[in-house]
Amino acid sequence: MDKQQEVSEAEIAVHWKEEEYYYPSARFIAQANAADPAILERFREENFPECFREYADLLTWDRYWHTTLDTSDAPFWKWFVGGKLNASYNCVDRHLAKNRNKAAFIWVPEPETEESQTITYQELYIRVNEFAALLRDFCHVQTGDRITFHLPMVPDLPVSMLACARIGVIHSEVFGGFSGAACGERIVDSGSHILVTMDVYNRGGELIDHKAKADQAVQVAEANGVKVDKVLVWRRYPGKYSSPTPMVEGRDFFVDELLPAYRGQRVDPVSMPAEAPLFLMYTSGTTARPKGCQHSTGGYLSYVAGTSKFYQDIHPEDTYWCFADIGWITGHSYIVYGPLTLGATSVMYEGAPTYPDPGRPWRIAERLGVNIFHTAPTTIRMLRKAGPDEPAKYNYHFKHMTTVGEPIEPEVWRWYYEVVGKGEAVIVDTWWQTENGGFLGSTLPALQPMKPGSCGPTALGIYPIILDEDGKPIEAGSGRAGNICIRNPWPGIFETVWGQPERYIETYYAKYCKNRASKDWHDWPYFAGDGAMQASDGYFRILGRVDDVINVAGHRLGTKELESAALTVTEVAEAAAVPVIDELRGRAVEMYIALKPGYVASNDIVEKIQTAIDTLIGKVARPKNVWIVPDMPKTRSGKIMRRVIASVSNFTPVGDISTLANPEVVENIRGAVQGAKVARGDVPRELSPAELEEIGRFGQVE
Ligand code: WTA
Repeated sequence: MDKQQEVSEAEIAVHWKEEEYYYPSARFIAQANAADPAILERFREENFPECFREYADLLTWDRYWHTTLDTSDAPFWKWFVGGKLNASYNCVDRHLAKNRNKAAFIWVPEPETEESQTITYQELYIRVNEFAALLRDFCHVQTGDRITFHLPMVPDLPVSMLACARIGVIHSEVFGGFSGAACGERIVDSGSHILVTMDVYNRGGELIDHKAKADQAVQVAEANGVKVDKVLVWRRYPGKYSSPTPMVEGRDFFVDELLPAYRGQRVDPVSMPAEAPLFLMYTSGTTARPKGCQHSTGGYLSYVAGTSKFYQDIHPEDTYWCFADIGWITGHSYIVYGPLTLGATSVMYEGAPTYPDPGRPWRIAERLGVNIFHTAPTTIRMLRKAGPDEPAKYNYHFKHMTTVGEPIEPEVWRWYYEVVGKGEAVIVDTWWQTENGGFLGSTLPALQPMKPGSCGPTALGIYPIILDEDGKPIEAGSGRAGNICIRNPWPGIFETVWGQPERYIETYYAKYCKNRASKDWHDWPYFAGDGAMQASDGYFRILGRVDDVINVAGHRLGTKELESAALTVTEVAEAAAVPVIDELRGRAVEMYIALKPGYVASNDIVEKIQTAIDTLIGKVARPKNVWIVPDMPKTRSGKIMRRVIASVSNFTPVGDISTLANPEVVENIRGAVQGAKVARGDVPRELSPAELEEIGRFGQVE
């Protein structure tokens, strides 16, 4: 560990203000699913891995397993080996006997003039079966094949997921906000020959053409050797095609035109081995190639069922709204698979949080009687800024709320607690990742008090450790930060990176594994890629990524992906993406560009770079600023020093630059960039010690 980092860790200790505890109400405790502290005993390490039997027993198994955890191919863990089950059966069929007429989903379209739609378990059963029949008989897909979805927040998305699960086809949903090219890349990586998309969707008051992206995705896939045979297009308004983009004869089909041929068809759920992949979810990493996290059927489903029950405290009579996008892992686990295995009612919303005004979420909550609410700090910050007094105007009452996806500032947490939760709702701050399937860090809401800004202790059956760069443990209460790792496997952990098993080992396990031949899980701590510190009460505070991933509004963006997109512009010689602290989005991206000789900086080039990022990744990745600079600060070996430019963007001290090959460029860049930012009134607030540490270290870890 270098000197710089040591100093800033000590600084954290000095400046850190411990927050007060908040306690759940007696009313909440009286009804909670996990109210007896004996559960903590049952999940103690000496009961591992058998403790997870309790989660698996929430499911219906066609064949019970014989081995809870098989480590013979470490670190490719296998859970509940010998067991067979079907995820679609567990989410749908098994609820029919008692709850056929209960709402599985309540879907709220963005335009307030459109009625919300209730999809009962019976209706879901019908739709899933018919679409599964279509996939099987029209698309000829078979168990183990992959299908890519590029769908917005419409009920057709969970229907499509559950239809795949029914026939053992692996779904791979790409977030609707990603570009066609990003979708195409993921089609190639997963080897899908079917793309399921939608013509248009509503967002922020606009009807967005989505079909155009499908054409681009297919082109990119074909250029990279994967032919998409069929594009299935759901229509946002069935019977009416709302996109200006033409359909391609023989390749593109309207789902609502095909479905009548499958009316009333039933497809037997295929009994899948517990370790069969259920879906892929792509995430960014330190290289431009995204990683397809492969999630299992039995382990994953058990883990989301257990955590939904104990951490989300979902009861059959609750109306649960997770305000996330199903295009991200949060939506997969906590809009679809977790709540549905428990037979809950899950609310889905199509549009933007503040459309048409910042009272919208609270109107939805009031109208539907939502009592469990789940969202991300970005949304909370946005609603707080746009409508700080709105929640009080609506008569809803939450018993439970979740924050997920980014660190939450204590003052934002308090607004969430007092204003959104009206002082009545318990909050869980859940820390986890795409790779993890479900929560890693959280309080058990009835048993462990809340502490603003801290996710709490870790989840049941998760045994964490904070290690320094040399692999030495950092003790709780030491005031020092380090790399948070999980010492043990758990059922929700992904099985591998699709098609890149060596990358799975290298990225997540190689750093701290001392014996690669070992078949003992104790030798394989999982490296999460987050900095964290543990207070003396055992609570963890997650400080953010330690790799070169930037978390913008809860979206993980790889700097390499952003930089590769910028490098497609002819004039660009070098590109470096860095995070800036952003009031609403947590972090935003700033891009530094050096041009090839003979070119001069212009707005036109900046535009081209923005467009390249929009088309190659998606508008979510658009940099806040693109700075064209004469030269990048570099080490003598020619590496761009990202931490130096990150400091310039954030107005923080650039630290030691004596090792640079060209230290003189730093002053030039600083003058130009900071001058322009001051002129625009774009100066970040004073950073917390943890944020200073993050910026000062950015891009340092290999
Ligand atoms: C960050 C989202 C602080 C973290 C479920 C992690 C958080 C990355 C929290 C994963 C939290 C997630 N507090 N930071 N409660 N939850 N993160 O894969 O840096 O989209 O590594 O999964 O988000 O993002 P991902």
